[in-house]
Amino acid sequence: SMLVVRSVTEVRAQIAQWRRTGDNIAVVPTMGALHEGHLSLVRSAKGRAKRVIVTLFVNPTQFNNAEDLAKYPRDEASDIARLDAEHVDMLFAPDVAEMYPEGFATKVSVSRLSEGLCGAHRPGHFDGVATVVTKLLLQTQADSAFFGEKDYQQLSVIRRLARDLDIPVEIVGVPTVREADGLAMSSRNVRLSETARKQAPAMAEALRAAGAAIEAGQPVSSATDTAKTTLLTAGYSQVEYLELRDAETLEPISKLDRPARLLAAGWLDGVRLIDNIAVLPA
Ligand code: PAJ
Repeated sequence: SMLVVRSVTEVRAQIAQWRRTGDNIAVVPTMGALHEGHLSLVRSAKGRAKRVIVTLFVNPTQFNNAEDLAKYPRDEASDIARLDAEHVDMLFAPDVAEMYPEGFATKVSVSRLSEGLCGAHRPGHFDGVATVVTKLLLQTQADSAFFGEKDYQQLSVIRRLARDLDIPVEIVGVPTVREADGLAMSSRNVRLSETARKQAPAMAEALRAAGAAIEAGQPVSSATDTAKTTLLTAGYSQVEYLELRDAETLEPISKLDRPARLLAAGWLDGVRLIDNIAVLPA
């Protein structure tokens, strides 16, 4: 059954054993409260590597809001049961002192990619993500690491840092897993009231409609304006952004002349929700 380890020393010892027998290793970083989206990453990883490590660490440095950190759902016992059922080899679940011991002073910061979209609304968030993911990649020295397209800007930041820092890992992006009504699965969805849960899929639907309109030739700004209005009408209290960006660089684009991504963030019932879809030129 699955090993549960708390220290970097134990992770390294186990990995050294696997390496001796030539096993390749995949890592799936998470903050727990696992759902089918996370399990989809685990299954992709199982398909790619002999050994799969899942990490569970609610990383305080990526929360720019103390209340969001305090309210972040935690259920390690149920996470362990689910990962064990998926035949994950090891769960690395360090505490804060193991990841950030006394005197910790280093930060990984990916400029440009971290600045717009969620970065503009969550100061310091992507520095926190980049720093902890760099640590996890170096601690595990995995051959491949799996991340969801649900957090598309995060995936882009991580691809960039792995390249820029010459970390010898393949970053693999996995498609977003959705509820039956289209809502992107998220650990934060459990915080939605019954009413808000019914309103929440409006984001996925507005993105889908706007993406289809842009692909059909509608001007980008009119399609995105309509989608923002739709969200506010559906019950969202605020739309932080809803924008078309270059799928690779995340630079703003006003014409669909290359692969693009339509990304949105908004507030519903005091919960911040994000989603994104591919938009492709004919
Ligand atoms: P967390 O939100 O727990 O997500 C862990 C991984 O699961 C991320 O790669 C995320 O994109 C992916 N994921 C979440 N919901 C998904 C869905 N509906 N479909 C597919 N994949 C989904 O993202 C983080 O944690 C943290 O920022 C982390 C990378 C672990 C660094 O702390």
